[in-house]
Parts: sequence; C-alpha cells; structure tokens
Amino acid sequence: MRLSIFQHLVSMAYKTQITTTHFFLLLIINSASSQQILNTESTSNQATTAECNNRWIHIRNLPSRFNLDLLTNCSEYPLFDDFCPYLANHGLGQKTHIKSRSWYRTDPLLLELIFHRRILEYPCLTNDPNVANAVFLPYYAAIDSLRYLYGPDVNSSFQHGMELFEFLQYDEPGIWERHVGHDHFLVMARPAWDFSQPLDNDPPIWGTSFLELPEFYNVTALVPEGRAWPWQEHAVPYPTSFHPSNLACLEAWIQRVKTSRRTALMLFAGGGGISATPNIRRSIRTECENSSINSNSSSFDVLKSNGIYSKTCHTVDCSNGICEHDPIRYMRPMLQATFCLQPPGDTPSRRSTFDAITAGCIPVFFEELSAKMQYGWHLPEEKYAEFSVFIPKEEVVFKGLKILDVLMGIPRREVTRMRQSVLELIPRVTYRRHGSSLGLRTTKDAFDMAIDGTLQRIKDKIANLIEG
Ligand SMILES: *[C@@H]1O[C@H](CO)[C@@H](O)[C@H](O)[C@H]1NC(C)=O
Ligand SMILES: *[C@@H]1O[C@H](CO)[C@@H](O)[C@H](O)[C@H]1NC(C)=O
Ligand SMILES: *[C@@H]1O[C@H](CO)[C@@H](O)[C@H](O)[C@H]1NC(C)=O
Ligand SMILES: *[C@@H]1O[C@H](CO)[C@@H](O)[C@H](O)[C@H]1NC(C)=O
Ligand SMILES: *[C@@H]1O[C@H](CO)[C@@H](O)[C@H](O)[C@H]1NC(C)=O
Repeated sequence: MRLSIFQHLVSMAYKTQITTTHFFLLLIINSASSQQILNTESTSNQATTAECNNRWIHIRNLPSRFNLDLLTNCSEYPLFDDFCPYLANHGLGQKTHIKSRSWYRTDPLLLELIFHRRILEYPCLTNDPNVANAVFLPYYAAIDSLRYLYGPDVNSSFQHGMELFEFLQYDEPGIWERHVGHDHFLVMARPAWDFSQPLDNDPPIWGTSFLELPEFYNVTALVPEGRAWPWQEHAVPYPTSFHPSNLACLEAWIQRVKTSRRTALMLFAGGGGISATPNIRRSIRTECENSSINSNSSSFDVLKSNGIYSKTCHTVDCSNGICEHDPIRYMRPMLQATFCLQPPGDTPSRRSTFDAITAGCIPVFFEELSAKMQYGWHLPEEKYAEFSVFIPKEEVVFKGLKILDVLMGIPRREVTRMRQSVLELIPRVTYRRHGSSLGLRTTKDAFDMAIDGTLQRIKDKIANLIEG
C-alpha cells in the first residue's frame, strides 16, 4: 500500500516536474490518509469521547483526481499565474525569509489545502461515517474551477462539480443518503460569485454553476466571500500571511502590534481607482493625493502639533498584484497606521481586512457586504461598532463627505478602545500553522471557529430535516 502510493507520487513528480517541496507536500497529505498523522495527533491531543460529543467529523475518502492530482497542473493555466510556488508548507507558501518563524507567502487560493491539512489534526475524526456529525469533502473546488474559469472547459462551466456528485452517488452511497448531503461540507477558496453562474446563461458570462446546482444545495460551502443572499455557503476569513506555530510567537506578535507607533491616520493598501467613473477607490485616491492641501487642516494641525501623526493618509500601491505574496510591503505600513481603508474592489470583500486586523489597524468599511454580512462566525455582527468604522460609500462618492473628517472626528479615547477590540480579534482570524504547539491549540483560531460554525449549522439543518 505504502509503496504503491509512493511509486504513484514519484511517477507523478517526474511527469509534471514538480519540485521537491511540492512532492513532499503531496506525500505528507497522502500518508495522513494512511493513519500515521492521525494516530500521533490524536494521542497528543488527548481528546476524550465526551469532548467529541456532537463534534465527530468523517473525512470522505475521495480519489486523488479531486484533490492532489489537481495540484500537478499548477503551472499550466494560461490566463492564471503559476501557483506552484505557493503549494509549499501545505499551502501556506514559502516563508517570507529564511529566519522568519511565522510569516509566509500565502496565496488565498490555497485555503483548500490549508484546511485539508488542518482537519487531519482535528481531534474528533472518525473513520465511521455512521457516527459522524459532519462529513468533510476534501475536494479542491476552486483549483478545479480554474479549467472552467481560465481554461479549455469554459463552455461547460455548468458541469463543475457533477463528477464529484456522481462519485458520491455510486461510491458508498449510504454516506450521502444518511442525511441527503445536509451533513456534508467543503471549502471553495474563491468568492461565491465565481461559482454562481445561472444554469441558463447561454453563452456563459462568468463563473461556474457549482452553487446553482440543485445537486449541491444541501452541502455547506465555506468560501472567503458569500453572495448577498447566501443559500448554502458561509464566509470564513481569507488566510493572511501570518501562521504562528506556538503561543509565544502569537503573543509576541500581539505585543508588537500593541506597542507599535502609529504615525499615519489612515492607510490604503491596494490598487484601482484610476478610472474616470466615480467610485469609492477613486474618491480615496483623490482624497489621499490632496490630503495635505485639502483636509480640514485646522483639526489635523492639532493632532500633528500633539505629535500624534506625521501623515494624514498613506497609500501603498498594490497594483498588478505586486503585494500579494509580499506581506512586508503592506504589513509595516499597516502597523504604523490607525485606520485601514477597506473599499470594495472587483467584489465587496478583501483579504486586506484580515491583514489590517492582524496589524491592529482599525478597518474602515464602505459597504455592509464587505464584512458585516459575511463573517458572522469570526467577527460578531453586534460588535462592528466596537472594532470598525462604517462610512457609506455613496456619502463619499456622491455627497462629498471626507473620510479624513470622519476619522479625525473620532475621539482619541474611542480610538484606543477600538484598537483594543481589534487586538482581541487577532487570534480568531489567524490560521495557525499545522502541527503547532499544544499551548497554541488551546486558543481558537480561524479554522477552529469555522469548524464550530459548520458543526452548528449542520446540526440546525438536520434538526429541521427531522422536524420536516
Ligand atoms: C493537467 O493538464 C493536462 C494537459 O496540460 C491534462 O491532460 C490533464 O488532464 C490535466 N490534469 C488535471 C488533473 O486537470
Ligand atoms: C466557447 O464558446 C464560444 C461561443 O460559442 C466560442 O467562441 C469559444 O471558442 C468557445 N471556447 C472554447 C474554449 O471552446
Ligand atoms: C436535499 O435535501 C432535500 C430535503 O431537504 C431532499 O429532498 C433532496 O433530495 C436533497 N438533495 C439531494 C441532491 O440529495
Ligand atoms: C484635489 O485638488 C484639486 C486641485 O486643488 C481639486 O481640483 C480637486 O477637486 C481635489 N479633489 C478632491 C477629491 O478634493
Ligand atoms: C473642519 O472641522 C471642524 C471641526 O471638526 C468643522 O466644524 C468644520 O465644519 C470643518 N470644515 C470643513 C471645511 O470641513
């Protein structure tokens, strides 16, 4: 058994010329299904049966064409960047530099791998689907979607997922039938928008139809961004580049964030805003460019003469994706800013929201769909006023409201309180490194919160199903 998996991987590695790092990634994920990781994890975690009550998860055994095989084509999507470099460290990417302990060049597309690796060390795994409270599908849905979104299968995008559905119907069909899919969940590491093309769009406009297929209505999909009226999906944080492996690393970072000197009032790290049509990014750009001339300088002068800020607005130009795998470009400025602007871009949500929280920079939202309507499991809806600022984009774009004036109007004491609330959110939006210390595992991270939310959601769904 071992040998054949090994041979398979070696031949695959040759065929596709994947590098050693990727090769080991595949090997380790595969060996996990052969119990090795499971055994060490469950003994080190010492989860008792009582603790696992109502929390058992069964990982559905899927053929490698639904996950690992998809990684071997990581450099072959013509309209999509080569993502091979980001497969390292089970999808966390390479470390930002050799001595870095917690920082990686993480690509959010690889959340499917990150999740897969983490669930292998979940303490309440069961091999018996009949006692499971939830069934995880280790399908790399967003990676598989690339061939429809950017590849040769663009005209059959309504078929995305059908092969998986057929497999679930003929291979051990009892697992699906037990709750007709209501207890199944998976991760789809792109905004739901990319998977919700209506089935009758002819020709297709954008996206696959995975979330529009009645076959998958019962399955819970974890996505980084849900639709405005989500049905089966629920949003979980985008992974940032910060993946500590022990409590000391996490605490040292939070301490650094707490004591960082914040010399800029507000920061925008991103691109866009160069088109002529009015939009929020354009308003931010002009307001920042003009901030020295145009801001309500009398109130800013007060802040400046108190030695609080040396700059009103700092922009980090992230056009053309230059920041994506280079967290140093934006994390340093974020540590030095009080407020971080989170305008919608192609879609309402941004990974940058989570980078900002990680840096203790108070997020400023311009629409509810950017976060408040999304991340209820991780960022409690009733606490938004405590950790973020909301400025409706219409007020800025069409009514001339100045962001600077709003932010400068917030009293210092209030700012300090808000930053404290942001600091408290850091652990729950961080995906800690797999195989981390037991001490760190006692703090719930983004993965743990997502599992809690999923189990609760599935429990409610099944209760409804039984009530009829
Ligand atoms: C990978 O790409 C090759 C052609 O480039 C294709 O034949 C193969 O089916 C692809 N494999 C997967 C798993 O998508
Ligand atoms: C998809 O369909 C369109 C319109 O029928 C056609 O122009 C295009 O070549 C097709 N693309 C592929 C990859 O088959
Ligand atoms: C989804 O669940 C409903 C009951 O809630 C059931 O009637 C339907 O057949 C299920 N769909 C699939 C594809 O199993
Ligand atoms: C920026 O300054 C220019 C020149 O003073 C002015 O025309 C423009 O309206 C200003 N833009 C904003 C958004 O204040
Ligand atoms: C500047 O700020 C003061 C105090 O916050 C306010 O009363 C005034 O209307 C502002 N002026 C402009 C031009 O925005």
